[in-house]
Amino acid sequence: MQKIAIVGAGRVGESTAQFLARRDLAREIALLDVHEGTAAGAALDIQETAPLLGFDTRLTGSHEADVIAGAELVIITAGLPRKPGMSRSDVLDKNVAILDEILDQVRRHAPDSRLLVVSNPVDVLTWRAAQQTGWSRDRIMGQAGVLDTSRMAAFIALETGLSVHDIQALVLGGHGDAMVPLLRYSHVNGIPLDRFLDRETLDSIVERTRHGGAEILALKQTSSAYAAPAAAIAEMVEAIALDRRRVLPTVALLDGEYGQRDVATGVPCILGQGGMERIVELDLQADEQADLERSIAGIRKDLERLQ
Ligand code: LAC
Repeated sequence: MQKIAIVGAGRVGESTAQFLARRDLAREIALLDVHEGTAAGAALDIQETAPLLGFDTRLTGSHEADVIAGAELVIITAGLPRKPGMSRSDVLDKNVAILDEILDQVRRHAPDSRLLVVSNPVDVLTWRAAQQTGWSRDRIMGQAGVLDTSRMAAFIALETGLSVHDIQALVLGGHGDAMVPLLRYSHVNGIPLDRFLDRETLDSIVERTRHGGAEILALKQTSSAYAAPAAAIAEMVEAIALDRRRVLPTVALLDGEYGQRDVATGVPCILGQGGMERIVELDLQADEQADLERSIAGIRKDLERLQ
C-alpha cells in the first residue's frame, strides 16, 4: 500500500502505527489527532526507530485533517476510552459524534479509502460509518474478533501449556460481554479442546474471553488494553495490504447472513485487497445461534438510541 491513515494517536493509534511500520506494510503512515503535536510527536518518535528496526515506512502526523489525504485505508481509533466499570456502550453518544466528524474529514480527504473502525462500541460505530458514508460494505470493516480470538487463544495456551502456534479459536458477535466464543470451532491443530481441558476450565476460558477488555481495564485503571488491540489491527491490515485473503473474524455489515440485516457484528470474513471480500456463514447449532442473536439484540438496542 502507498498510504495508511490512523485517526487518533492515543495508545491504540500509536501502537498500531508501530506494528504497521515494523511490518513495512505501507510507504507512508499518517497519524491524525485533534491534540496539536500528539500525532506529529508520535510519528517522529516511531520514525526514529526505523534504523533500529529496519523499516522504510515514512511516518507523518498532524492535527490538520489533510494529513490523511489520499490514504487507501483509514483506521479509526479516536474516541473516548472507557473508565473502569463502564461498558463499551457507555461511551456511545460521545464516540458517535467524534466518528461523524472523522467521517466528514475522510470523505473530504480520502474519498476512495476503506475504513477499519476500532473505536467503541465498535459494532455500532461500524454500522454508523456505513450509514453516514453510504459506501459499499466491502469498504467498511471493524476490528473486534481478531482481538477477542487472540485473547481466547492466549487463555487456551496458558491453560494447556501448549504452543500458541497450534491453537485456533473463534469468537463471533458483538464486542461486549455477550460476545460468542465458539468452543466447537476452537482446537489444537485440529484436535478438539476437550481432549486437553475439562468442562469447567473451558467454561472459565469462555467467561474470561468475554470480559477480556474489562479485566485489563480493571487492572490498569487509567487505560484500556492497547498492545493486543493494535496487534489485532495489524493482522487485519496485513491481510488487506498483502491481499492474503485471510479468514478473520471481522465486524461486517450483515445483509441476510446469519438471518440478520441492517446491523454490523463480528463474523468470519475473507479479507484481501478488496477489503471485506466475503462473509463466511457457519452452520451454527441452536444454542450458538441463540447466543449470537442475544449478542446482536444488544447491538440493536444501542442502534435504536441513534435513530
Ligand atoms: C478491549 C477494548 C479496547 O477489548 O475494547 O480491550
